Parts: sequence; structure tokens; C-alpha cells
Amino acid sequence: MEVKIEKLDNYGRGIAYINNKICFIENTLPNEIVDIKIIEEHSKYNIGYPIKIIEESPIRIEGECPYYNLCGGCNLNHICYNEENKFKKDKVKNLLKIYANIEEEKINNIIYQDRNYYRNKITLHGKEGTIGLFKNNTNDIIPIQECLLVNQKINEMIRFLSHQENEIEEVIIKTSNDNSEIMVSIKGTIANVEELKKKCNVLIINDNYLTTQKEITTSIGNKKYYESINSFFQVNNTLTKELYDEVLNNIKGKNYNKVLDLYCGTGTIGIYISEEVQEIIGIDYNKSNIEDANKNKELNHVDNISFICDKVENKIDNFKDIDCIIVDPPRAGLDSKTRNYLKKIFPKEIIYVSCDPVTLSRDLKDLETNYQVKKVTPFNMFPRTYHVECVCLLMKK
Ligand SMILES: C[S@@+](CC[C@H](N)C(=O)[O-])C[C@H]1O[C@@H](n2cnc3c(N)ncnc32)[C@H](O)[C@@H]1O
Repeated sequence: MEVKIEKLDNYGRGIAYINNKICFIENTLPNEIVDIKIIEEHSKYNIGYPIKIIEESPIRIEGECPYYNLCGGCNLNHICYNEENKFKKDKVKNLLKIYANIEEEKINNIIYQDRNYYRNKITLHGKEGTIGLFKNNTNDIIPIQECLLVNQKINEMIRFLSHQENEIEEVIIKTSNDNSEIMVSIKGTIANVEELKKKCNVLIINDNYLTTQKEITTSIGNKKYYESINSFFQVNNTLTKELYDEVLNNIKGKNYNKVLDLYCGTGTIGIYISEEVQEIIGIDYNKSNIEDANKNKELNHVDNISFICDKVENKIDNFKDIDCIIVDPPRAGLDSKTRNYLKKIFPKEIIYVSCDPVTLSRDLKDLETNYQVKKVTPFNMFPRTYHVECVCLLMKK
């Protein structure tokens, strides 16, 4: 069946209307005429699969990754980078307008850098001696030699591991942002462990450390951070600095006394801004994150920051007289208790770092009686995927 693609949805899928019913079709672009087959029928929508692009969009690009449409890691490889960035800015603009009534003028231009080789982490799976990425929505392995998203040091390690005799179930590979250090954690077995050990700064096999070094060290701006295998770390090698600079620039010169860094991970943002405020308290529920955060505090000789290992919602009612609260929650956004306490604590400023504009707009709507949105800056932290990060500055009304 031939359809015309009208626009993209928030996941980068083409939208067509067939007898007034919405149909989502991956790997298609606005204004394309596409021959599709319906692969799922639901009461309110259908899912289509593109068999042939009959009239191609001028913004379509092809052939950059041999595994595209197989592994499911990327959604926007078929669209040129300018249009990808435009799609993400429009997505933020539309969601914030529809759900939180934020005017377009408040949304800054999207910040972006390299489209390729930007990630510092990958998780691969293995079966019968082959390692790779899971085929879209299955447990079948697509063997890979290179991923366009991860840096070249990780790609070299992928090639090395895939040529070794192995019974790997899962492997996590992480590097420092300048690619100088690499950490590999394997579940399973590999024949040539000594050879692998020579290539790694940190090697972990079935939770046992085979190296004396237990974490890698990465730099962001003039700060250094330890990162263990189970800790959260921003995945973009270079754009993270710009994201943290946006937070820093919002805080600079305001002489804040007490600042909360909620969902603080390994303490990265709090430490990054530590010279600009009197006191910071970071909270994160992941034990490994907080262990690293305390080491990072020492590493950077910062003595005005402390960390709490607990859920934010368990501790948020303990605070008052806070000037600024930075939140960087997971995709689910802020829970209702935390939102209510943000209103009760009523800091002068909230800096909301968000990796999902849908939950961001829900939370901004809820905070709107007490807080005014000053500006929102989108960051393309995850090129080739539909994901977009935002830093949003809210001032007390
Ligand atoms: C998007 S990361 C942000 C980390 C950090 N701000 C950074 O830039 O590296 C979200 C963090 O929230 C933590 N987290 C998730 N839910 C939480 C909760 N309910 N309470 C405390 N921490 C939570 C996770 O462990 C993770 O480190």
C-alpha cells in the first residue's frame, strides 16, 4: 500500500494517515511516498513497515552504518545531521508548548558537536563465540566490527574481542573521555586473558578484578573524575563539558550559599560548580556513584561538598534555606513528592537537566505556579538517536 509521510513523531518515526487512522512507519521521512505493509494493528493506531521508498526526501542519507535497521541502537541514521538537530529542537519546542505552555522564544538553539564516535560506553552481548548487539526486539546477536556511535578506542576493543575464542555473555566497555584509559567488564570466559589484560587499564571478568587499577579517570574542563564499572557517567565524550558549562554559567556570580545537586551520579556537576558556591549537598541512590563521588571530592581537593546515598524522595524533606537546586533525574523525571518539596523549599532558582522533554514538560507544568521558565537549552548529547537533553533554568516567581 502506498502512503505519504506527513511528519515525524517524537521517536523519529514517519506518520501517515490511512483512512484517518494514524500509522507509524520507521525509517521514513516527511513528504516521502512509501510502499508499506501493516505489521501491527491496534484500535487507535497501526504500525507499518517500509517495503520501498517510491519518492525519496532530499534530506535522506543512506549507507553510513551496515547494521542500521538491524541493531535498533539508532533511529535517525537516515536523516542528515542538520535535519536531525532541527527535529530535536522542534520536538523540545512543541512538547514544552503543548504540555507546559512555554513560549518558543524561551528555547535556545540546539548545541551539538560531532555526529560520530562520540560515546564512551557500549554494552555488547554474546552467544556461541560471537559478540555484537541484539537484533531489534530479539535476543539474536548481530556481530559488529564497528559502531558509529562509540569512540575508536572502543571500536578497536570490539574488533580485538570478536577475534578471540570466547564464551562471552555480556561485555561492557568504557573509556575515559580523552580515550587514554579503557575499562572492560566481561561476563563469561575468553581464551587469551593475558593479551586482553595488556590492552586494558581495568579488566573485570565475572566480577573479579584482574588489574590493580579499579576505575578509570576522565577529565571534564579543569576537573578530574574517577569512574567505576557500576557508576553512572555521561556518555558523550566532549559535549558533556558544554552541558556542565551551561549549569555553571547559570550559577556564576550569584553568590549562592547552599545548593543541592539531586541525582548527582558521581558528583560531577556539584564538583564542577564547587568554586562558585559556599556549600553543596549531592544525593544519589547508587552506592557505587556515591563511593566515586567521595573519591572525586578528594581528587579535586573540594571541601565544600558532601554526598548522601539514598533516594532523593527519602531525603528531600530534610532541607530548608537552599538558594538553588540542580536536578538531573532519569527519564522518568521528578516524582510528585520531590516536586512538592521543591515548591516547599522554594529555592531562588532550579536548574533542571533533563534527558526526556516529555517528563520535563510535565514537571514544568506542575511547577508553573511557583516558578517561571527563563530559558531552555537543548543539547544533542545522543546523535543518530531520537534522544535529546535539555538544561532548563527556572526562577522563583
Ligand atoms: C541522568 S543521571 C545524572 C547523573 C549526574 N548528574 C551526571 O551528570 O553524571 C541520573 C542519576 O539519578 C540516580 N537516581 C535515579 N533515581 C534516583 C532516585 N530516586 N533517588 C536518587 N538517585 C536516583 C541514578 O543513579 C543516576 O546516577
